[in-house]
Amino acid sequence: MKEHIRSSALGYILHVVGKNLQSFRGKHAHVQSWKIQQYNPMMRSIPFGIWIAVSVAYYWWLISRISVLENQNKAIKTQLKFSRNVFESVPDDKPLNYKIPVIPDESGTICETIHVALVCMGKCTRLVIPMLKSLLNHRQNPIHFHFIVDSTSQLPTSKLFDTWDLPDVKYTNYNAQHRLSKVRWVPNTHYSGVFALVKLLFPDILPNSLHRVIVLDADLTFMCDIVELWRMFNNMTEDQFVGLVENESNWYYDTEKRWPALGRGYNTGVMLLDLMKIRRNTDWTSLWHDAVTENLERLKHTMLADQDIINAVIKKYPHIIYNISCQYNVQMSTYTLAKNCYGEDRSNVKGTNEMPAIRSEAHLCHLKAVHGHL
Ligand SMILES: *[C@@H]1O[C@H](CO)[C@@H](O)[C@H](O)[C@H]1NC(C)=O
Ligand SMILES: *[C@@H]1O[C@H](CO)[C@@H](O)[C@H](O)[C@H]1NC(C)=O
Ligand SMILES: *[C@@H]1O[C@H](CO)[C@@H](O)[C@H](O)[C@H]1NC(C)=O
Repeated sequence: MKEHIRSSALGYILHVVGKNLQSFRGKHAHVQSWKIQQYNPMMRSIPFGIWIAVSVAYYWWLISRISVLENQNKAIKTQLKFSRNVFESVPDDKPLNYKIPVIPDESGTICETIHVALVCMGKCTRLVIPMLKSLLNHRQNPIHFHFIVDSTSQLPTSKLFDTWDLPDVKYTNYNAQHRLSKVRWVPNTHYSGVFALVKLLFPDILPNSLHRVIVLDADLTFMCDIVELWRMFNNMTEDQFVGLVENESNWYYDTEKRWPALGRGYNTGVMLLDLMKIRRNTDWTSLWHDAVTENLERLKHTMLADQDIINAVIKKYPHIIYNISCQYNVQMSTYTLAKNCYGEDRSNVKGTNEMPAIRSEAHLCHLKAVHGHL
């Protein structure tokens, strides 16, 4: 390396010397054309002595550069030797002792972990993948998924996340197989069977250390960052501990046949649960047990599983509900009136001067989440 630097520097010096010699010879051998003499009066007027002095100074500078380069070369060699020693001192079979810096989970920052819970029992993995992908596609914060699983879904769920190996994404499986008896007594005709009713058990199943959680259905598609939902927890009053979007159909208006509900009722596909307030302010289990027993005689069974029961609880205690804007759960299901959320309402559209022809696209950009069975 040293030899190479020296030889290339020498080559450069010889090149420069050669060039200067050429012009020197040209000037003083009187073979220059008349034109050069005419157009270069400066060159002609510089005395020969100054030329020599400038050239000597220039060559001296070049030679001094060589010693600078040599010193740098020496320093690099020392560094290389040093790092080689470091690698030699680490045995091959031991991993490098690199510590990943701990980033504080600070509220209101991009480092705040968002907790998401969902029931994933039976053959749920396939159904849930599009939802997870759309959620992860828009998120920036770390996410901790809390999966309520049974023996069938436990392994696929772990496998899914272990193979994805996503940065800042954690998951915890809670096997609730043995808890199914706690909801099996509720007569239910919804196609989701007993699994949807397990959503009533979140305050029992999730650990006390978990204060807030966003509960999601598997058939959602996210079109915005879930942090927008997470921030709503801070806007809840002391009494409010359930955040929901209204059901976009007139289902619950048929008060003869339906479970009691506030107004047109709420949809439980996206649900904010402040677990800390629930545990502190209420006896959640008796709250929903009472709601079931009070209505079961008249209605015989639930048609929409957990949603009927939660609506009955809200009807009784309307102060617990925090209303979420319908854009966060645009419902595409039977008899839906979802168009009321984004359809003809111009005030829903972000931006001001959209043209009528592209309005429907503008609306689509505005949807926060779409809820519907695929
Ligand atoms: C919370 O409430 C404030 C004040 O009403 C409002 O400006 C803000 O948009 C709300 N945040 C969310 C996430 O709803
Ligand atoms: C709301 O009511 C409709 C019936 O009109 C029902 O099919 C639906 O499941 C309920 N909730 C949702 C998901 O919209
Ligand atoms: C939430 O919406 C329902 C139905 O529109 C309404 O009756 C209730 O007053 C609202 N609650 C709050 C706290 O805004």
